[in-house]
Amino acid sequence: MITLLAISLAGCGKEEVVTNVGKLEFEQPLNIPPLLEATMESDGSKHFTLTMQTGRTEFLPGKMADTSGINGTYLGPTIRAARGDKVSFDVVNDLGEQSTLHWHGMKLPAVMDGGPHQMIDAGKTWSPHWTIDQPSATVWYHPHLHGKTAEHVYRGLAGMFIIDDEDSKKLPSNYGIDDIPLIVQDKLFTDDGKFLEDDEGIFGTLGDEILINGTYDPYLKVTASQVRFRLLNGSNARAYHFGFNDGKTFKLVANDAGLLQEPVTMDRIMLSPGERAEIVVEFEPGEEAILHSFNGHAGIDSGEFDLLKIIAAPELAESAPIDGQLSTVPEIEAPENARVRQFKLTMENKINDKYMDMYRIDEVVPAGATEIWEINNFGHSHNFHIHNAAFRVLSVNDKEPPEYERGRKDTVFIPNGSNVKIVVEFGNYADPHYPLMYHCHLLRHEDDGMMGQFLLVEPGTESEVPTTLPKKENKDGHDGH
Ligand code: C2O
Ligand code: CU
Ligand code: CU
Repeated sequence: MITLLAISLAGCGKEEVVTNVGKLEFEQPLNIPPLLEATMESDGSKHFTLTMQTGRTEFLPGKMADTSGINGTYLGPTIRAARGDKVSFDVVNDLGEQSTLHWHGMKLPAVMDGGPHQMIDAGKTWSPHWTIDQPSATVWYHPHLHGKTAEHVYRGLAGMFIIDDEDSKKLPSNYGIDDIPLIVQDKLFTDDGKFLEDDEGIFGTLGDEILINGTYDPYLKVTASQVRFRLLNGSNARAYHFGFNDGKTFKLVANDAGLLQEPVTMDRIMLSPGERAEIVVEFEPGEEAILHSFNGHAGIDSGEFDLLKIIAAPELAESAPIDGQLSTVPEIEAPENARVRQFKLTMENKINDKYMDMYRIDEVVPAGATEIWEINNFGHSHNFHIHNAAFRVLSVNDKEPPEYERGRKDTVFIPNGSNVKIVVEFGNYADPHYPLMYHCHLLRHEDDGMMGQFLLVEPGTESEVPTTLPKKENKDGHDGH
């Protein structure tokens, strides 16, 4: 194995370009998180139970790590529901400490969002419910306790939430067969196979080993000629440049918040933490392909990693062709005179020169509005996620965004020194009491306070809502500073 040394262009000083290439044997069958069974309630809603718990998990052969998981010891089950479904949850906190569970990418009432204000004390159960009303998408869930998100996610608290609709059925949808979740996370391990967190780096933990769905050294056998992979970057800080070792192409069919208008063939996509993409890959009988992450120069993406070996069966079930229109949802367009808001990201991990304050409202947005948000990054690498919203990237430095980030999104990479304009479609639920978040999804930065709060309010009432929130007794609303 060759260790490369390079100077990062974006980071401060020297950064080692880590690699696992040549080190893996691809000997572990890829774990597929189980689909969570729903029970039907009398009001027709699908009810799910999620228990956040601690445990021990074997990643490196013969070695155990202390981990957390949901209904298991590491990661959580996949939830699947369709547009129009009523869903309800019991989220049981058996972690022995406070946490939250946020539905990243979901449009729902703010009080159901699971952000920093919906704390679940140790031993308690939180029971959110809503009606799914958004286009098909690959969304996900993870804790959002302010100041602790990095730690809780790193230990294993995360899972996928698949939303189906009529459009998404045109694509391979047989879970675990030709519709495969890929939750990609980097880790640092101690010699005895435990998780290590990096407390020093400016971005937080950047691992030198990769887990896919919690599997180290994974392979996957496929039996269909076309397979849909749902890529989720569930890492704390690392960004990946996904592609295949041999340059094999794939079709991008969805970004974070929904399907593209039509599939686009490409060979590389970048996902920063929190971002998702759905790709469809075509296989020949007996073919072997290695999903890979290529090196980049943004500080958070330096490294070369083999991720997963995919082995196609000698005979493959023929899949229906994937072409023509996918999404029937119109693209997000800015209305004339759309409100424009400015956000400045800095080296100190501030947004508009402020750190997060749990009791301060930073922005008030009319529910259902479509606005242009303009983000300028004067720091190092950051990204930007907005709760309860979907957006389209209009431009990066006044140019068209890269081809892989032109669809519906809720999280976007903001390169160092760049200006990124997005047109944002906000959710329809107004609530003058519970704020929603926008933040950098590099979890160290978020925990540091690189987050702001906005209220979605009845249009016309923007100036009537207070811009501070009442302090609640016995709630530790620490702001990270
Ligand atoms: Cu994935 Cu505010 O979070
Ligand atoms: Cu979110
Ligand atoms: Cu950041």
